[in-house]
Amino acid sequence: MQQTVYLNDQFMPLEQAKISPLDRGFLFGDGVYEVIPSYSGKFVGFDLHIERLKRSLAAIKIELNWTTDKWRSIAERLLEENGSGNLSVYIHVSRGADVKRAHAYKTFNSPTVFALTTEIPAPKVANIDKVEGLSVVTQEDIRWQRCDVKSTALLGNIMHFQHAYDQGVAETILYNKDRQVTEASTSNVFVIKNNCITTPPLDSQLLPGVTRHIVLDIIRSKTQYEVGEEIVTFDDLKQADEVWLTSASKEVAPVTLIDGDPVADGKVGGLWLAIMSLFEQHKFDA
Ligand SMILES: Cc1ncc(COP(=O)(O)O)c(C=O)c1O
Repeated sequence: MQQTVYLNDQFMPLEQAKISPLDRGFLFGDGVYEVIPSYSGKFVGFDLHIERLKRSLAAIKIELNWTTDKWRSIAERLLEENGSGNLSVYIHVSRGADVKRAHAYKTFNSPTVFALTTEIPAPKVANIDKVEGLSVVTQEDIRWQRCDVKSTALLGNIMHFQHAYDQGVAETILYNKDRQVTEASTSNVFVIKNNCITTPPLDSQLLPGVTRHIVLDIIRSKTQYEVGEEIVTFDDLKQADEVWLTSASKEVAPVTLIDGDPVADGKVGGLWLAIMSLFEQHKFDA
């Protein structure tokens, strides 16, 4: 099927979408983005994703004061045009094209706005008892100091992700110079010990994941489990009973092997099953 994308106020076939080679997104990675999942036409956390997009735009001073409704109508039209299955909508805003390549940007700007859909796996709930745990590796975080901004400049994340990919595993979990876990190259990290659920606190070392937010909300409002946003050390990670990764496309994914060592008994944990089931029930409420 021909894919329809959105570029600067127009919907068009992907092949027709063209940008200038002077676009600062292309030259400098000077832009921000979002990935919003949808299942059978229903978005998960749409407003939360757009709020984060607005924060990212403000952080890098791109002026684009579009309403959430405007973003929603673009995203909904893309779903319709592309078959409304299980699709994520990728939204990319760069600072746009200048007349020459120069580091400094002018105070006026005409951002490039691009959006497209990508197929994502069906919800895990259909086959929840067949879900296999992920194998991951760890690395010291080499990225920049504003990981709270969802920047399109992803070279550090790509190097970390490729490190995992080259070893045939799913992700690289990252830790800082003090051996505290930050996040993973494309997801947030949760660590469970003695039924207590912990995820690193929000700061500029990690992306404030929308899935992380939804999972925390569900645990706090629907369960009695102890949950905290606290420092997680490398040793905490290695001694955990369960480890989960969260992201728009992974939802809540159990990790069963870290650097070749099993997490606890190496099986998908019971707490993951409970929280993933609640996530499937409540993910559209956010
Ligand atoms: C570095 C990083 N951390 C965390 C996440 C998870 O964020 P979300 O749950 O909003 O998808 C992502 C998602 O792309 C990411 O790239």
